[in-house]
Amino acid sequence: MTQRTSIERMPGDELIRLARVLKVPIVKRTIKRSWLIDEVIKELDKRNEKHAPPTKLQSPAILIENVTKQFGKKIAVRSLNLKVHPGEIVGLVGPNGAGKTTTLRMLTGIIRARSGKITVDGHDIQKNPLLAKERIGYIPEKPTCYPSLTAREYVMFTARIYGVPHETALIRMREYVELFQFDEFIDTYVGTLSKGNLQRALLIGIFTREPPYILALDEPIYGLDPRGAWNLKKLLRQLRDDGSAILISTHILEVAADLCDRFVIMNEGDVVGKGTLQELQSLFPEALSLEEVFLSLTGGIPE
Ligand SMILES: Nc1ncnc2c1ncn2[C@@H]1O[C@H](COP(=O)(O)OP(=O)(O)OP(=O)(O)O)[C@@H](O)[C@H]1O
Ligand SMILES: [Mg+2]
Repeated sequence: MTQRTSIERMPGDELIRLARVLKVPIVKRTIKRSWLIDEVIKELDKRNEKHAPPTKLQSPAILIENVTKQFGKKIAVRSLNLKVHPGEIVGLVGPNGAGKTTTLRMLTGIIRARSGKITVDGHDIQKNPLLAKERIGYIPEKPTCYPSLTAREYVMFTARIYGVPHETALIRMREYVELFQFDEFIDTYVGTLSKGNLQRALLIGIFTREPPYILALDEPIYGLDPRGAWNLKKLLRQLRDDGSAILISTHILEVAADLCDRFVIMNEGDVVGKGTLQELQSLFPEALSLEEVFLSLTGGIPE
């Protein structure tokens, strides 16, 4: 969606808020919507001229080197190596308890790896946690967030934390609210949103930031309805083509096969397979699908 289209689709209150942020002089008592839109765009063009071009990501954007995590005696992730380059969607797949969520929680700095090294856009998650966390957008497996904020308040709040200019946040929020068909819920308290809608609110929060993105998405399709899933998959492909680096964990193999360029297959904390679908299939010439490769690598195809 172009910037103009997002602005044209804004409800009156959002448009006036944007005009105020941009200090458009509103002196007349009655103003025409079309005039206000033109003034807002004029003002934005002035600012865009000064705006720096989008930054490129380091390659690899995500680097996990020899990472191990243990909970008591249980090794949840063992000597994991994983890279995601800009322009790639990598699928982290594996059965329940394989270590996918643990990997993403280490990558986003929520829990510490016992050993090994993780960098996000070149920043070490242990040594420079704020710089690394600033660069990554994370959708957790079980999203929780400030229940007493409305979705709109949450999105604007996260945009502020990440230093997104107010006007940019308002325009991007409108764009993604339309894309995820979220208008009905934008003023709903986060605590009362359904799982899928909470996921949408978190995604809108991430996408107020400047692309390209580094995304760590834990089962992002799982809570979404078919239309939401379709829209998200289309968006992720487009972001990938524009240079974002995306790591997705899932055990829904249809999603993985449909969306990911490469796969890292985990089982009980170990990497048991890596590569493109073709490369993985060449290991098992009999396998007809990612599902059969997956089953062969994680305990064999059931009789
Ligand atoms: N905080 C924790 N304390 C103790 N054990 C944990 C903790 N978090 C994860 N584990 C264990 O680590 C292993 C890996 O769990 P993880 O949640 O990473 O798996 P997963 O691949 O995301 O599985 P799923 O597909 O079910 O989401 C499991 O055996 C789990 O019980
Ligand atoms: Mg998980």
